[in-house]
Amino acid sequence: MKLQIDKRAYESIQNFSRIIYLKGILNREDLPERDEIVDLYYRDRFVGRAIYNRESPTIKILTLKKEEIDRDFFYKRIKKAIEYREKILGFKNTYRMIYAEGDYLPCIVLDRYNNIGSMQISSKIMENYAPIIYECVEELTGITTLYVQGAKKGDRIKPRIFGDRSDVETIIEEGRGRFKVNVKGHKTGFFLDQRDNRIDIEKYIKEGDRVLDVCCYTGGFAVHCGVMGAEVWGIDISKKALEVAEENMKLNNIKNYHFICGNAFDIMRELIEDGESFDVVILDPPSFTKTSKDVKNALRAYNTLNYLGLKLSRRMLVTCSCSHHIDRETFKSTVVSSSLRAKREIKQIGGYRTQSPDHVITMANKNLEYLKCLFFAVEC
Ligand SMILES: C[S@@+](CC[C@H](N)C(=O)[O-])C[C@H]1O[C@@H](n2cnc3c(N)ncnc32)[C@H](O)[C@@H]1O
Repeated sequence: MKLQIDKRAYESIQNFSRIIYLKGILNREDLPERDEIVDLYYRDRFVGRAIYNRESPTIKILTLKKEEIDRDFFYKRIKKAIEYREKILGFKNTYRMIYAEGDYLPCIVLDRYNNIGSMQISSKIMENYAPIIYECVEELTGITTLYVQGAKKGDRIKPRIFGDRSDVETIIEEGRGRFKVNVKGHKTGFFLDQRDNRIDIEKYIKEGDRVLDVCCYTGGFAVHCGVMGAEVWGIDISKKALEVAEENMKLNNIKNYHFICGNAFDIMRELIEDGESFDVVILDPPSFTKTSKDVKNALRAYNTLNYLGLKLSRRMLVTCSCSHHIDRETFKSTVVSSSLRAKREIKQIGGYRTQSPDHVITMANKNLEYLKCLFFAVEC
C-alpha cells in the first residue's frame, strides 16, 4: 500500500519524528481496511515503511529504508535496544527491553523479568510477528518464556505464551527490595517505569516512620520503605494485587504492614476522619484520563487526591501522574493548588522526576515521556 504524505509530515520525519498524523496523508481514501504495513511517499519518492493501525490517529514509522520487515529486521532492532540498556544504561536482567517508537519498534512494549518476557502489542499486525520476536529475544537473551497480550482490553488480540508455558512468575531484585512478578498481572506484570523513583525513596525513610502507599499495586514503594524500617500501609482497589503485596512483604522480611482494599479516595477520607497521619504519603494513581477530552475531570481527581494526601502527611509527599495528556507544569500547578487547599506549604525535593531510562524518550517524540513524579517536603 502506497500512501502519499504532505510536506509537513515529510519534514517531521526528517526531524526524527517516528509518527505522522493521518491528516498528513494526502490519499486518505486509500487507507487500508485493516492494520497493515504501508509505504510512505513524498512527491512520489519513498520516505519510509510504517504501521497503519486503524484504531490510531497516527501512522508509526518502522524504517526509513526500503527493507523487508522480517526476522533479520527484528533481530537487529532488538539487539540494538538490548545493547543500549545493558552496555550504556547498565541494566542487567530486568528492564524494559523494547519501548515502541523509542526503539523504532512501534506498537510493541516488551519487559524482561529475568528469563521471562512480557510483551504488549497495540496493533493486530504485530501478532504475525510475535513468533519471530520470541525467536530473536530467546537467541539474544536466553529468555525461555514470552507472554504476549494486547495493550488494551477488547482489542481482539488473543494472549499467547511462547516457550515454557508454565513459567509466568519470577522474583526480581530492585534496590534493596525483592518482588514477585507474574506477567499475567496488570500491564506487563510490574511497573518498571517507577524503578528509579522507588529506589530513591529509600534515602528519605527513617526507622519507625509511618508510610502510606496509595495505589500501591503489589507494594512497589511500600517494600522500599519497609526494608528501611518503616511501618507501611498500602491502599489498592485490586484484591489480587494486594495478595501479591502481602507476599512481597514476607519476601522482604517486613513485619509491620497493613493493606486496605478499596477506593483510595474513600479510604483516605476515612483515615482523615479517624485522625490518622503518616510521615510519608505516596500517591501513584492510574492514568485518570485516556483522552485529551477528559483532562478537566482528571485534574479535578489529581487535585482531590493530592489534597487528601497532604492532609494525611506530616513530613513528605511523593506524587505521580502517568497520564499522557497532562503536561509537567499543569500537573505541578495542580499539586500546588492542592497544597493551598490543604493549607500545607510544600518544598520540592530535587528535580522533576520521570520514568526510568529504559523507557527511552527520543527528543522528537514527546508522547514517549509520560511519567511525572515529584518529591515534596511538607510543612505542617
Ligand atoms: C500505576 S499503578 C501503581 C504502581 C505501584 N506504585 C508500583 O510501584 O508498583 C496504579 C494502581 O492503582 C490501582 N487503582 C486504580 N484505581 C484505584 C482506586 N480508585 N483506588 C485505589 N487503587 C486504585 C490499580 O489497581 C493499580 O494497582
